[in-house]
Amino acid sequence: MASLAPAIEETIAPAGIAARSYAQQLAEKITARTARIGVVGLGYVGLPLAVEFAQAGFQVTGIDIGEEKVARVNAGDSYILDVPGDVLRGLVEDGRLRASADFSVVSELDTVNICVPTPLRKTKDPDMSYIDSACREIARRLHPGMLVILESTTYPGTTDEFVLPMLESTGLRIGRDFFLCFSPERVDPGNPRFQTINIPKVVGGITPTCTELGALLYSQALQTVAPVTCTRVAEMVKLLENTFRMINIGLVNEMALMCDRMGIDVWEVIDAAATKPFGFMPFYPGPGLGGHCIPIDPFYLSWKTRQAGIEARFIELAGYINGQMPIFVVGKVQNALNDRSKPVRGSRIHVVGIAYKRDIDDLRESPALDVMHLLNKHGASLSYTDPHIPRVAVDGLNLVSQPIEAAAAADCVVIITDHSGIDYRRLLECASLIVDTRNALKGFRSEKIVRL
Ligand SMILES: NC(=O)c1ccc[n+]([C@@H]2O[C@H](COP(=O)([O-])OP(=O)(O)OC[C@H]3O[C@@H](n4cnc5c(N)ncnc54)[C@H](O)[C@@H]3O)[C@@H](O)[C@H]2O)c1
Repeated sequence: MASLAPAIEETIAPAGIAARSYAQQLAEKITARTARIGVVGLGYVGLPLAVEFAQAGFQVTGIDIGEEKVARVNAGDSYILDVPGDVLRGLVEDGRLRASADFSVVSELDTVNICVPTPLRKTKDPDMSYIDSACREIARRLHPGMLVILESTTYPGTTDEFVLPMLESTGLRIGRDFFLCFSPERVDPGNPRFQTINIPKVVGGITPTCTELGALLYSQALQTVAPVTCTRVAEMVKLLENTFRMINIGLVNEMALMCDRMGIDVWEVIDAAATKPFGFMPFYPGPGLGGHCIPIDPFYLSWKTRQAGIEARFIELAGYINGQMPIFVVGKVQNALNDRSKPVRGSRIHVVGIAYKRDIDDLRESPALDVMHLLNKHGASLSYTDPHIPRVAVDGLNLVSQPIEAAAAADCVVIITDHSGIDYRRLLECASLIVDTRNALKGFRSEKIVRL
């Protein structure tokens, strides 16, 4: 029988024979890789995780309410750029990975990782409905010896205040009959260097035994595991990381606004500052925040701290500055056209890159949508190029991605996302005027270029 670390043997001993037995049994299954693993939510986070567990030799079941995703996984057809189609197909054909829209499979599982969305409501309050419904389904099938790990980004306290009572309402006892952890997901879609397998995994449990089992599970499939003492620390880790990024981007965006006013090249300033080998880390300005994490997660924290009577002022300020950037970009376009005696109204504007960041196909919260909406409102006629997003609807306009040469017909091009697959030399040849919000044309000198 696999034995748990001595510290855990001690901590679980007071819980009695049953605790020892369920934890021990699960630890044994995990190390033997016979534990049946479930991943709830097969999106950008869940599918790569399910694939890593399956590649480590586990039998994995993905559960998603989206019938189309379930069908595509079962057909070995990947819809996530970071999951190669042949890898997924191989795992499905070998019977290591399957997907289902039916939660009844949870009864057969030993562990479940929850990777469902955590958006904000319009009021910037957390929308807990996805976690709520996934946990309710799991609670209905919770059985002794089961480990549940929440991975969705959320406010500190979610696991012990929100999830734990639902699972304990079954009559099963935490740390004795079942185990619960939080482990923040740090995936960076499109990052060629860091993927699920080599991004260190922080995990914190409700009890020390929970932490130990969570760490044991991840260590079978991922290279580095960093256990922490409790779920609240693990929840806060993610919010610190993303708040750090959001505030630093807000700071550098404010620098960009200042430099613009003073006629200083902010890009050159940052590059020169980055030559300092200590105490400085470069962040870059841009057209605004996008994606499912950086613009959203810090507001989970400010919502929670408000309840504790603390205003998260850095977050609110950075949120304000970052939120102004699409308006600033549209102003840049207006000024650039005015300098050529053209109003925005009636001008043809071609947007290059509309995904929320480089080399991904994700449009969620993309600042390109805000910029396009504002330009459309000002009467511009729009087109775009994005090798990763074949079509988009903006204000009821259905647009299809054009070849980069479409820039030749535009009065102004705006680079919003600097995908590496775009031929910027060709773009510069074709376009008559380019507003570059990402310094994608670094190294090129031309009267046509207006940098942020
Ligand atoms: N995408 C990222 O880069 C990233 C990075 C770190 C953390 N996160 C966090 O991870 C979580 C998941 O994000 P994502 O980007 O993978 O989202 P996603 O939208 O790509 O995937 C979520 C999946 O969950 C499914 N789902 C929704 N409700 C469900 C339910 N009740 N039961 C089963 N399936 C359900 C959806 O159909 C969808 O396929 C979020 O909390 C997000 O903030 C995301």
